[in-house]
Amino acid sequence: MNLYTDPIQELAGFHDEFAKPEGVYFAGNSLGLMPRAAESAVKGLIEEWKHYGVEAWMDCHWLDLAERLSLAVAPLVGADPDELIVTGTTTVNLHQLLASFYRPRANKRKILIEYHAFPSDRYAVASHLRLRGGDPGSDLMVVWPRDGQTFSPGELAEKLSTDVAVAVVPSVIFTTGQLLPIAELVEAAEQKEILLILDCSHSIGCVPHDFHHNRVPLAFWCSYKYLNAGPGAVGGLFCQRERFGSAPGLAGWWGNHSSTRFDMPFEMQPAGTASGFQISTPNLLSMVPLGPSLEIFQRATISKVRSVSLMLTDLFIRRAQEALPEIEVVTPSEPDQRGGQVTLRHAEARRISTVLRRRHRIIGDFRAPDLLRFAPVALYNSPDEVDRAIAALRKTLDLSEYLEISGTKESVT
Ligand SMILES: Cc1ncc(COP(=O)(O)O)c(C=O)c1O
Repeated sequence: MNLYTDPIQELAGFHDEFAKPEGVYFAGNSLGLMPRAAESAVKGLIEEWKHYGVEAWMDCHWLDLAERLSLAVAPLVGADPDELIVTGTTTVNLHQLLASFYRPRANKRKILIEYHAFPSDRYAVASHLRLRGGDPGSDLMVVWPRDGQTFSPGELAEKLSTDVAVAVVPSVIFTTGQLLPIAELVEAAEQKEILLILDCSHSIGCVPHDFHHNRVPLAFWCSYKYLNAGPGAVGGLFCQRERFGSAPGLAGWWGNHSSTRFDMPFEMQPAGTASGFQISTPNLLSMVPLGPSLEIFQRATISKVRSVSLMLTDLFIRRAQEALPEIEVVTPSEPDQRGGQVTLRHAEARRISTVLRRRHRIIGDFRAPDLLRFAPVALYNSPDEVDRAIAALRKTLDLSEYLEISGTKESVT
């Protein structure tokens, strides 16, 4: 009996469960591929709507779909199901957490954000500072790595100063692909009485989380990247049990306790769990595809997904270093410091990305001003595809193919 199974082989059986565009798809860090079963899940919902109308809320169990999906998300983040809820969208969930938990005080009113954080996070944070009478010019503390690129161990934790009330930090930085040291950040934030809010959009479904063990206070994420739930899919938020009972800053009737929601109480009676942070009627059409996707994660397991993801990104980094000396690998090579993507830097990144897509059908993406991102995803990509991408990059550079492409912007990169 072979005790040593190859994780890549073990997950290879899942590849056919995803619909794949032609070519090599390495853009799962932007929009994950469609699990084939998502199509029938959406059709099933349409059929339920067609046949049952409003009665489907009860007869087809629409009412607690968000809670049922949260049960399956819980193992991916290492939390109890009632500490998280499938709801809202990434930016709206951050707004909800800031509205509910940002409590500025005289000498503790700043919000810290990482320079490379997704812009929407920065806009959301700045808007909350303004709403509370603050001034983003002085109250928004933007921090960046000493080398301008990636944080060295301990570097970000050192920047958490006592005048900071809240720190909004990505688990994986979307540009560089660096995975930040969550346990270290939680500890430093606790020491300085800073509320840490994690943006897990680029780690959920790719990096296993253990929010309990790491004492993560609050987190939010999207479901359309590594969770493969479709464009604009309903996201999620996490609230540590110790923080239950805080009134939702942005209140809406769906946050009522489910047993009294339809009594339409005059005063809101928020569910005393993460469910209380829901605002509106759940967007079921953007939520059902998450079901079949999570079912795949249950069978594949997040630990195997992580092992294979690390093998693929490691292979990508090594091949890039060997074959593409003129390109800088930005993503850290240490496994505990990277998420699921590899970022490369080249002055002609925009045109290289375009030529890779149009001529070689290698679908990665470009992030201004000079970054190329590739996410080999454990559930549907293979080592052979990594080799094809590297070979295409080599050819593009050797033949200067990118010079034939205009430098103009594409609206979705
Ligand atoms: C890290 C991160 N945060 C926030 C967002 C904003 O997401 P949404 O458009 O779902 O609000 C994105 C979008 O890609 C993201 O990558």
